[in-house]
Amino acid sequence: MSTRTQVGIVGAGPAGLMLGHLLHREGIDTVILEARSREYVGARIRAGVVEQGIADILIETGAGERLGREGLVHQGIALQFDGERHRVPLSDLADGRTIVIYGQTELVKDLIGLRLETGRPLHFEADDVSVHDLETDRPLIRYRHEGRDRQLECDVVAGCDGFHGVCRPSIPTGVLSEFSREYSFGWLGILAAVAPSSDELVYAHHEHGFALLSLRSPELSRLYIQCRPDEDPAGWPDDRIWEALQTRLGLEGWTLAEGPILEKGVTGMRSYVCEPMRHGRLFLAGDAAHIVPPTGAKGLNLALHDVCVLAAALTDWLRSGDAAALDAYSDTCLRRVWRAEHFSWWMTQMLHRAEDHDPFDLKLQLSQLRYVTSSDAAATTLAENYVGLETV
Ligand code: APR
Ligand code: PHB
Repeated sequence: MSTRTQVGIVGAGPAGLMLGHLLHREGIDTVILEARSREYVGARIRAGVVEQGIADILIETGAGERLGREGLVHQGIALQFDGERHRVPLSDLADGRTIVIYGQTELVKDLIGLRLETGRPLHFEADDVSVHDLETDRPLIRYRHEGRDRQLECDVVAGCDGFHGVCRPSIPTGVLSEFSREYSFGWLGILAAVAPSSDELVYAHHEHGFALLSLRSPELSRLYIQCRPDEDPAGWPDDRIWEALQTRLGLEGWTLAEGPILEKGVTGMRSYVCEPMRHGRLFLAGDAAHIVPPTGAKGLNLALHDVCVLAAALTDWLRSGDAAALDAYSDTCLRRVWRAEHFSWWMTQMLHRAEDHDPFDLKLQLSQLRYVTSSDAAATTLAENYVGLETV
């Protein structure tokens, strides 16, 4: 069975779904193919911090109705080290800009709802997806759906299929330059049914390793502890998790409230960028093209930024044949990507205990943390990157 569309989108994460949403608003036809089931995609617990600029775009384009209602607006975060907690007043330092706490899982559910309302195709459980003829003006996606082999002829293909997707590996060897860094640690994340013990996020440096207190709602806490990258969550019974969190986040005169753990998972840490984010008629966006360690809370924001740039560029090109923005897509995105790569790496190395860590590293970390929490210039650097730099 063969069908045609203007933009074939592989992957229904935030990047693929938002691209479909933005293009639909411009009257451009898309088909979205997702390997997993709708239930699986809507249940995966992921990031939770949205930059104000990105939240504004979601709201302006009609995808942020629930985010606007239920998202929690934050104006600061805390950095904790040496037994003290220091507030970084993000909004005071970054022109009043804020962050919005709203789960990626919820955003994905909202975007799926919007897509289904349009009646345009979003095929879950698409098997054996492969992309072909990328160097021609009729790229092709082949897949299996509901037991039948299908093929989708496109003007362009958008590879929004995450880090482990099929689009990036379909680009011939030698075309892409790849840049990466592995870290000797990961995060064990939990979702707990307990009111967050702090109104703002707390990033804690501790001799046992990093910990982070975050939240999803007034009743749901999201917490992370540094662990080994290959750690089996089964080795972390609930008591052990709370004990580690109490040690690393503990502070005189403050208590971390505990509650039932609803979800538990280990996230690896990696920095990765491929350049360019395009090959012929294939455009990569989001995690398919770049990964950041989660310490800077940038992954979701970068993915959404990429597709805003891509949607505008595709609209120009499909409407009027003007390819200037499309030709600039990769360079435009990579400037912001590399800023976020640096910021995420910098936050990560300042806060974690690396495997090969020595006393010199510890002294440098503590000095950097003291500087960031005492100098307005240094705190502003953190703040403007955290809330999101528009242009660099
Ligand atoms: N065919 C179809 N879909 C696929 C395939 C495939 N071969 N491989 C992967 N996918 C799907 C995945 O199941 C997933 O739903 O592509 C989607 C990619 O979504 P994400 O991994 O969420 O990536 P992205 O949309 O770029 O969003 C980035 O997700 O990992 C977090 O921290 C990251 O917050 C950031 C965000
Ligand atoms: C989260 O709430 O999941 C979260 C918050 C901040 C981060 C990473 C993840 O840096």
